[in-house]
Amino acid sequence: MSLAKEQRIVLNNYDKINPASIDEYIAQGGYQALKKALTMSSAAIIDELKASGLRGRGGAGFPTWLKWSFTAPIEADQKYIVCNADEGEPGTYKDRLIMDKDPYRLIEALTIAGYTLGATKGYIYVRGEYPQSQQSLNTAITGTKAAGMMGKNILGSGFDFDLEVFSGAFAFVCGEETAIIESIEGKRGEPRIRPPYPGTVGLWGKPTVINNVETLANIPAILNNGGKWFASIGAVKYPGTKIMTLSGDVVNKTFVEVPTDTTLYDIIYGFGGGVTGGDFLAVQVGGNSGGVLPESLLNTPIDFDSMMAAGGSLGTGAVFVINDKRDLLDVVKNMAHFFTEESCGKCTPCREGCQRLYDFMVKVCDGKATVKDLKIANGLARVMNKSALCGLGQAAPTPVQTAIKFFGNKFEEKLLQNS
Ligand SMILES: Cc1cc2nc3c(=O)[nH]c(=O)nc-3n(C[C@H](O)[C@H](O)[C@H](O)COP(=O)(O)O)c2cc1C
Ligand code: SF4
Repeated sequence: MSLAKEQRIVLNNYDKINPASIDEYIAQGGYQALKKALTMSSAAIIDELKASGLRGRGGAGFPTWLKWSFTAPIEADQKYIVCNADEGEPGTYKDRLIMDKDPYRLIEALTIAGYTLGATKGYIYVRGEYPQSQQSLNTAITGTKAAGMMGKNILGSGFDFDLEVFSGAFAFVCGEETAIIESIEGKRGEPRIRPPYPGTVGLWGKPTVINNVETLANIPAILNNGGKWFASIGAVKYPGTKIMTLSGDVVNKTFVEVPTDTTLYDIIYGFGGGVTGGDFLAVQVGGNSGGVLPESLLNTPIDFDSMMAAGGSLGTGAVFVINDKRDLLDVVKNMAHFFTEESCGKCTPCREGCQRLYDFMVKVCDGKATVKDLKIANGLARVMNKSALCGLGQAAPTPVQTAIKFFGNKFEEKLLQNS
């Protein structure tokens, strides 16, 4: 059995320091990266990020340097950095680990982001169900201000920066970046039509960069150790590490931070200790929006591109193991139900499509679906992929689509014969 090794970058301080103590964070090298950044130009910091190859850990895998390079040169009276800490994907709690156990790392990263982008104000949009994380961050913001590393003229650099924790609106869709903006503006959390993109027209119409907690948490280590160091870890096109959270029918329901060239097999059988309650049947990677994958794909490395090529997605890095004693179709039906609850209803393909896909799965499970129903469901799923306004509706069909693709025999067994 191949056993990959854990490598901690963003979780390096996990359970090593008192998260409320800035002194303990500083003793571990904290705030060295901010001090260094304040001596660098914005372009030099973005170059370092480019050399690192860091890509988003929030699900879309967008190169971080590229996102920053759109907003940094814009002249504006106000720009914003927003940290996406909404973390609504089922089975995902990676960002909470960072916020609860090492909040100063995130605050340092956001201050570096603010300096690089020319943004004097930042928001951390934290999932409403995470009051402890909100408290942890607020304590750390107070500590940072007391130490003179937030507010006016940080460390004598002339740079002013302030951060605010904003409680999320208890809805999965509010993690979508433009829905966050609406929510902070005090409106109902619904995605906006793009373009314009937030990088140019974002919060209150101002240029705004939105990054995930885990993405940002990598930045102090990148500045301290250099982009090349980061680029040498894990998969070439999606370097660094990824926190994976394990749940379902797996022995160790735990989390690991591993280089991105680690395989799914090593995560489930190495760190996870294998399958419990039966034999392996399937794994869903990336939360409810992720693909349901068969055993034959367990050798896939967990990096963004390999997962896509395999027909799944890395998403948030949630790993949900399903054993062969489960009724897979029933599990997929529950996944489809989630989206009927979480669709915001703004666009027709998602509002109607999520309900119809769920109805289809109910019919399948009841043994009442026909071959024609299957064809219609496949067509509907493709329309949703292509025409839904945001990622929620585009990805909502993924569990059903991948279950049909990889476990077609289970559907065939249930479909009405001669239909
Ligand atoms: C329905 C939906 C929910 C999302 N929820 C989150 C979330 O909780 N956290 C997150 O970082 N990104 C989430 N995203 C992705 C964001 O829209 C965005 O891509 C991400 O915050 C960008 O940060 P990154 O480039 O650092 O990954 C969500 C997207 C969709 C469509
Ligand atoms: S895809 Fe779904 S969640 Fe996104 S805007 Fe349309 S209805 Fe709302």
